Amino acid sequence: MSLLDDKTLKKISSAKSVVFFTGAGVSAESGIPTFRGKEGIWNKLKPEELANFDAFLNNPQMVWEWYKHRKEIVHNSQPNPAHKTISDFQLFFPEVKVITQNIDNLHRRAGSKIVFELHGNIERNYCVKCKTFYNDEIIFNYEVPKCKCGGLIRPDVVWFGEYLPQDEFDRAEEAAKNSDVFFIVGTSAVVYPAASIIFVAKENGAYIIEINLERTEASSVADKSFFGEAGKILPLIFQELKDHFFTL
Ligand code: OAD
Ligand code: ZN
Repeated sequence: MSLLDDKTLKKISSAKSVVFFTGAGVSAESGIPTFRGKEGIWNKLKPEELANFDAFLNNPQMVWEWYKHRKEIVHNSQPNPAHKTISDFQLFFPEVKVITQNIDNLHRRAGSKIVFELHGNIERNYCVKCKTFYNDEIIFNYEVPKCKCGGLIRPDVVWFGEYLPQDEFDRAEEAAKNSDVFFIVGTSAVVYPAASIIFVAKENGAYIIEINLERTEASSVADKSFFGEAGKILPLIFQELKDHFFTL
């Protein structure tokens, strides 16, 4: 039995611009824990103590210990079939863009060429004082890394209460506006302003397809929802698309 109904197959196969809006769920099958839901890290840890600039100034040691742990998880993980399938879409569609809330770099490592990172990237760091970037590996060995200027170095990720990188957000909004098909993959869609991108796509007439384990805040705007693991559903969708293209 096929997964895609006629309308969905037609919408995807005739799309020129395909956008994937992704969240922590797309990396769950790579072994990176999500924030919310049953196994979510915000069930155990408090974001206001770890993902917040004041918390960093008050206790940079603790925040760095946590980021050291997260950097290690990310370094030891590999893109999974969801990331790979998203990258494979580039083989069939002239324009494929990824808008991600993830900071793990796995979309790029899977081969996606155009990736807008709304919440930064854990592999980069910068000085809070002079804003110098440190893109090479930062060694944290129980001593908070410091810049040449003496300022504290922090990971280049967006914390609660901080602005999103404006250029990435603008380009993401533009991509959403121009998309024909807009996939929402593995996000609870509760964190703003990132989640507002979904409504930009909707208002501009994109066909919205959601892939998640369960219903989310975005389900009511989705034209089509698939409930299951992204690493299983996306390859199935892609296989049906290929079968369709190859029998034309
Ligand atoms: P969440 O942890 O809020 O949501 C993860 C979503 O992925 C949930 O809806 C799960 O049901 C779904 N999910 C889990 N495993 C899945 C799988 N294998 N396949 C498909 N779906 C799956 O993560 P985000 O929505 O990304 O912000 O969270 C948004 C932001 O909140 C994050 O970027 C982070 C966090 O605080 C910052 O760090 C600024
Ligand atoms: Zn500095």
